[in-house]
Amino acid sequence: MPIYAHQQYLHSLLSWAKSVKEEERWRRGADGSLCHNEDQESDPVQKLIQYIEQALKEAPQALQKTDIEWIHQFAQEIYQERLGMYQEEIMDDGDHGENGHKQKAADQGTVIPLQPVPVGGHRLPPLPYAYDALEPYIDEQIMRLHHDQHHRSYVEGLNRAEKKMEEARRSGDFSLIKHWEREAAFNGAGHYLHTIFWNNMSPDGGGEPRGDIATQIKQDFSSFSRFKKHFSEAAKNVEGVGWALLVWSPRSHRLAILQAEKHQYLSQQDIVPLLVLDVWEHAYYLQYQTDRAKYVDNWWNIVNWDDVNRRFLEARTLRWAPY
Ligand SMILES: [Fe+2]
Repeated sequence: MPIYAHQQYLHSLLSWAKSVKEEERWRRGADGSLCHNEDQESDPVQKLIQYIEQALKEAPQALQKTDIEWIHQFAQEIYQERLGMYQEEIMDDGDHGENGHKQKAADQGTVIPLQPVPVGGHRLPPLPYAYDALEPYIDEQIMRLHHDQHHRSYVEGLNRAEKKMEEARRSGDFSLIKHWEREAAFNGAGHYLHTIFWNNMSPDGGGEPRGDIATQIKQDFSSFSRFKKHFSEAAKNVEGVGWALLVWSPRSHRLAILQAEKHQYLSQQDIVPLLVLDVWEHAYYLQYQTDRAKYVDNWWNIVNWDDVNRRFLEARTLRWAPY
């Protein structure tokens, strides 16, 4: 393997190790019992970061194959240990009932083991907090209606579309494929975006972003206030129904703000949503009537920046050749 490939591998490994570290910090905030390594000296992830940084500091010619293999082996051990920890947490968690606010969101683990959703087997994720937790900015009635009815109908619609398309694959009759593909896109986008949306908000949210996402926002939008203004204007001016999205583009290596008019027509599919804002009427109408702008302005008080940062750290490791 050429030297630059070794360096590239070490850079991506370093990025992964740092995201694990960041995740630990985040989980410590969420639940102190999940922290196993208070002592930096004996923390294997910290050690791995130091080894990699040391290796990268040395001249490229000095990188030995055995060093790379040793670092790779060490990273594998950490990965396996965390996989075990995460699986234990899943076993311990069980089901915490209708509200589910004690249950960690499905996408909040350090390592998510592969567990494919069966065709037509999508489930409504629990809200990560109580229905009234976001008051006064979004009231309990909205949250119950939005989560329990609107989101559930997306889940059911997606499941129906997937099963119908499976039927079509079995029978070979694709005469209604256009209809079911549209249903799968409409309900799938609705299900996945709402799943992000619930975790993008928190009763402890608001304020300014922290961590790497704060630096990246400043880099790409000059300042947080310019970013916030741009995102708010994008949300307020979505024509009809839809969403505003902050995305990381693996192609341009930058953040971007998008409008998604009718969420099934995402204009840029090759993106990872980080922060999404639901501006469909059902998200605010009962409380704010036609004043979407007020809803958008108030929404900033409940943004869960730790969640946005965690999504960013994961998404950032995905990069295509820039063109
Ligand atoms: Fe919605």
